[in-house]
Amino acid sequence: MKNCNQILKLLSVLVVVVAFTSCKKEYVPAVVGTISYEADMQPFFDSKCIKCHNGSSIPLNLQAPDSYNNLNTGGYIDVATPTNSKLYQKLSGGSMEVNSTSSLTAMTLLWIEQGALNN
Ligand code: HEC
Repeated sequence: MKNCNQILKLLSVLVVVVAFTSCKKEYVPAVVGTISYEADMQPFFDSKCIKCHNGSSIPLNLQAPDSYNNLNTGGYIDVATPTNSKLYQKLSGGSMEVNSTSSLTAMTLLWIEQGALNN
């Protein structure tokens, strides 16, 4: 009986530990920190955009390694007034909104606010 109680105690500790660890995994943080073009923005374009934006007749090739230059030379980024950026406007309420998610669009705005670096 004593053993049984100990096992129960151990089990409840395990349940709490598992509950906390799984909460941690499911938690999707608000977009914070420095956004990396290479590690965040390009993978976003790769997964959600380049099936169309790949140098075909559709304007703006978003494939690596030219996407960064294309965004800048094409005037899609306005670092001075980030919300005026055509890239952001297309994703936020524009015709490309269906292809993004609110957190990826927020990430895009944050990247522009941080200076739209090629980092
Ligand atoms: C299913 C195909 C498709 C997907 C996926 C797609 N786009 Fe587009 N995109 C288009 C087409 C077609 C246009 C031109 C018509 C328009 O502006 O709506 C366009 C236009 C744009 C423009 C304006 C280009 C210009 O010079 O006017 C931007 C910026 C853009 N897309 C960004 C994106 C981003 C970022 C993604 C990924 C989140 C994305 N698009 C995903 C088809 C697509």
